[in-house]
Amino acid sequence: MENKEAKAYIEEHQERFLNELLDLLRIPSVSADSKFAGDVRKTAEFVKQKLEEAGVDKAEICETAGFPIVYGEKIIDENLPTILVYGHYDVQPADPYELWDSPPFEPVIKDERIFARGACDDKGQMYMHVKAFEAMAKEGKLACNVKLMIEGEEEVGSENLEIFVKENREKLKSDVILISDTSMIANDTPSVTVGLRGMSYLEVEVTGPNRDLHSGVYGGGVANPINVLCEMIASLRDENKHITIPGFYDNVLELSEEERKELNKSPFDLEQYKKELDIEEVEGEKGFTTLERTGIRPTLDVNGIWGGYIGEGAKTVLPSKAYAKISMRLVPGQDSKRITQLFEDHFKAIAPKSVKVKVTPHHGGEPALTPTDSLSYEAASRAFEESFGKKPIPTRDGGSIPIVALFKQELKVDTVLLGFGLDSDAIHSPNESYGVFNYFKGIETIIGFHKHFAELTK
Ligand code: BES
Ligand code: MN
Ligand code: MN
Repeated sequence: MENKEAKAYIEEHQERFLNELLDLLRIPSVSADSKFAGDVRKTAEFVKQKLEEAGVDKAEICETAGFPIVYGEKIIDENLPTILVYGHYDVQPADPYELWDSPPFEPVIKDERIFARGACDDKGQMYMHVKAFEAMAKEGKLACNVKLMIEGEEEVGSENLEIFVKENREKLKSDVILISDTSMIANDTPSVTVGLRGMSYLEVEVTGPNRDLHSGVYGGGVANPINVLCEMIASLRDENKHITIPGFYDNVLELSEEERKELNKSPFDLEQYKKELDIEEVEGEKGFTTLERTGIRPTLDVNGIWGGYIGEGAKTVLPSKAYAKISMRLVPGQDSKRITQLFEDHFKAIAPKSVKVKVTPHHGGEPALTPTDSLSYEAASRAFEESFGKKPIPTRDGGSIPIVALFKQELKVDTVLLGFGLDSDAIHSPNESYGVFNYFKGIETIIGFHKHFAELTK
């Protein structure tokens, strides 16, 4: 489908394209919270119906041990290349609700932006593919065979998708995987993500005395697990913000000076960055820029920490237990299972005898790199050039989409990360939003990708 035709179709149907997305955003498909289990399933049904309306040959709900995977395909010619689209219909919890300016599951459009949980991550971005497919299918202008696989457990680790992929290699056979679930630099500076960080996530429990104690009667004589946990966590990074776990950096693929130079050419305004976050100064590993710290370097962060008395007023208590949830973002070369083990061994080794430590691993995922010298990257580059009037810049994102590495491992297929979000979209935060411009431009660019990929692979 030519760019002119794509634009015309989008223009003609723009109101319905928007309204359908708003309907999708109204269903609170929070995969992490069992309270919403019914809504997550409803969302799967919604997506299936929309795939059918858009013109797939068949759409199905594929049951898993958790939430279902929605699958649809249209095979027009065995000799044409096949694009496998992946996206997710589940969203992060909307908490804390009181920080939203409008309710998270009652989408509103304000200042040309769609505000709702999932607006960008990933309902808005996933739905662009459904509408791009509709435009091409209805006009009889499909350039490639299309398979769409939309899952409902991305935000909780994609464990069942992993099983599904391993059991359905033939069904998922494709020439390229296309995902819109990342961000670009700015609306006038398009970019293609070529690297994602991986993740190791775990929970720690530190136990001191066998019951909560009076902090006057026992204080000073018995280890306070919260104090101990804080000391242990503080020791995990040194004064250069280098992670102290032995072996942590062992296999990290360092970038060459040339590659670092290239990466730091990306437009980035440190003053603007600090202003937007209302911080006086940034922080991070010594010797690296902010772009490097968030893109190509591994990290260790506490995501939550609790214990003791946090109710109203003061209670003098020396608690029995303290907890923390800790994540490590990993970079190419690192292996999430190995890092999890290294953390567990180290954390136990540094625990004083006065406490007991329990470490429970959660989901993890491997980092990924996607090639820039492939036909699929070239197709993305041409599609952006056509729709945005500019060639995209290759960038490394700090977020994680563990399934990308798994696709490569199991299906031997490379992914193109065609993301249209912006860092300021506030994904996972209150007041998440997605630009109306990004939604429609995304649809246009995706249609362009199909065309250029078919041409390039002829
Ligand atoms: N879409 C995000 C990942 C992302 C966001 C990549 C922005 C690049 C730029 C995805 O939905 C996500 O949130 N992933 C989780 C990991 C998952 C295992 C829970 C993450 O990165 O925290
Ligand atoms: Mn996502
Ligand atoms: Mn997410």
